[in-house]
Parts: sequence; structure tokens; C-alpha cells
Amino acid sequence: TNAMLILGIESSCDETGVALVETGAGAVPRLLGHALHSQIDMHRAYGGVVPELASRDHIRRVLPLTEAVLRQAGTTLQALDWIAYTRGPGLAGALLVGAGVACAMAAALGRPTLGVHHLEGHLLSPFLSADPPAFPFVALLVSGGHTQLMRVDGVGRYELLGETIDDAAGEAFDKSAKLLGLGYPGGPALSRLAQQGDAQAFALPRPLLHSGDLDFSFAGLKTAVLTQVRKLGDALEARKADLAAATQAAIVEVLVRKSMTALQRTGLRRLVVAGGVGANALLRQQLDAACARAGVRVHYPELHLCTDNGAMIALAAGMRLQAGLVPLAAADRRVGGSY
Ligand code: KG4
Ligand code: ZN
Repeated sequence: TNAMLILGIESSCDETGVALVETGAGAVPRLLGHALHSQIDMHRAYGGVVPELASRDHIRRVLPLTEAVLRQAGTTLQALDWIAYTRGPGLAGALLVGAGVACAMAAALGRPTLGVHHLEGHLLSPFLSADPPAFPFVALLVSGGHTQLMRVDGVGRYELLGETIDDAAGEAFDKSAKLLGLGYPGGPALSRLAQQGDAQAFALPRPLLHSGDLDFSFAGLKTAVLTQVRKLGDALEARKADLAAATQAAIVEVLVRKSMTALQRTGLRRLVVAGGVGANALLRQQLDAACARAGVRVHYPELHLCTDNGAMIALAAGMRLQAGLVPLAAADRRVGGSY
């Protein structure tokens, strides 16, 4: 058979993720092992990711995590067919750790490596869920660094329909949360606080909602939140939950409306949501409702695979290999082949 065992290493930002995925022609990809170490506690004191600390922590974690994954799967390094790692985008030093370890393992084992685009990992991550999508679909990619709508016709067949012209959706969550004094990372904290607030209590802008295109802009929203925070002064504490709820509602409304427009324009009847913000409960709830009204199927990654992880990297590598997108010469070259 052409079943393939792929190790995936993610180290682009503040999570070290390692996973083992098995793919085969016509078979549903299987996640055989999965380990993650989040650096959030380490960076919290600084209010954001400190690149040098991130790199050093990846170095500390990557081999123990790899051993844990192999143990979980009851296998050994020798059984691996491919070693995949996140090639970018991300922090240079952090990426180098994953790439260096992957290439060193590959050289020692005589196996090929495959560098994976981080966003392709996010994009394909719903294929590991219990309800995997089918091509073609519209993808809403919402992470801390990116906000994009894409038309996806197959593995490697991506057409950008629109994207943010300034901040990403996750960044809007994080920066607003910071203004509200909610610490880092702000997205989950802001959405938790929003549950106790009244979203109608503040009228915040919905940037580019009626722009007629599929682009996003969130910088103005952050400024509007800042203005409210200043205006409230000492009264902020009592109104914090309301402001959090209003902020979340503004971000979510724009994401939902533009996703529905993208579906209308492409005529596609399937939506895939991926990236960290895809974990947001209000976004899921409102997309579910809008898609139900429009007769569109919507797919999400498993909650624990929404944020950065190694599984999506191993999976994307496996799907590229199964789709024949990796030049065959790479398999012969064995070492250092990176695409
Ligand atoms: O995909 P991801 O883990 O990393 C990047 O590739 O950027 O996304 C991280 C982003 C952060 O901005 C974080 O605040 C946001 O996803 N996020 C959330 C939630 N969980 C994570 N935003 C809103 N609600 C959440 N529940
Ligand atoms: Zn990510």
C-alpha cells in the first residue's frame, strides 16, 4: 500500500507541537499521536511572545514531545516515512528549531523532509475532525496573524478571495483584550468575559462591512475600543464585560457577513473555518445559524486543533504527498528536500 507515516513538527510561534499522522490513498487520515507544549505561561509576564525565549523553549521541548508521541503511537523513529515541519510564516528563530530538528532526524534516518506552510496546516486541519469537509469549499482562516477568505478547490488549489488590510481577527481580539487589561493571550479571556456582558451596550464600528469586497479591517475597531476605555476611565471596571461583548460581537459580525458573501459569490455550499479564532464560541454559533439559513454545510477543526499544533502540519504534508504535489525526486534525495 502507499500508507505513509508522517511526523509533523510545529514551532512557528509559542506552541511546540509534535504529531504522528498516517495517510493512505483513499483512506481517511489518522492521528496516531499528538503532543503539545504551550509557552503561554512563560510569555504572560511580558504581555506577548518574546522571540528569543520562544526559540529556547522550543529547543527544550521538541525532543521530549517527539518521544511522547512515538510512545503514544507505540512506534519508533525508524518507522517514519516522512518528517514534516512548519516552514513559515513565523518567528525566524522558532521556525529554525523545528526545521533543524526535522532535517537532523531525516539525515540520521535517511528519510525525506517536507516543509509545510503554516496556514495550509490550519486550512486543512478540519480534515482530522469527525466530520471532514469535501472539496470545493470556502475557507475562513482566522488566526493571530492572518484573516483570509479563500476558495479551495483541492489540496494546493487555493484562491485568495479577500484578506485583512491591517490587523488580523485574532490580533483584534488580543489588542482589545489588552486595552481592557485582560492580559495575554486576550482572545479566550475576552470571549469568556463577554459571556457576562451586553453586546448592545456599546456601538462599535463594523469596518468594511459594506465595502462590497471580501477584505477586512480591524485596526479601527481597536481604536474605537481605546476611545471607549479612555472615556470610561474609572467606570471601565463596571462596564468591562459589556465592552468585551460589544467588541466580540463586532468582530464576529464582520467575519460572518463576509463569509456568507464569499459563499454567495462563489456559489459554493460548504464553509471551512480554521485558525485560533475558529475556537470562538460566538463565531461558531453565529456561523452555524447563518449557514443553516443559507443551506450551507460548515466544518470546524476539533477544538484542540484550532490553535497551533503538530497534527495539522503532519496532516498537510500527508495530503500534499497523497495529492502528488511533492516532486518524486524528493523521495530519492532522501535528505533535506524541502518544498
Ligand atoms: O492559529 P493560532 O493559534 O496562531 C496563529 O497562527 O496566529 O491563533 C491564535 C489566535 C490568538 O490571537 C488568540 O487570541 C485567538 O487565536 N483565539 C481566540 C480564541 N482562542 C484563540 N480568539 C477568540 N476566541 C477564542 N476562543
Ligand atoms: Zn497558527
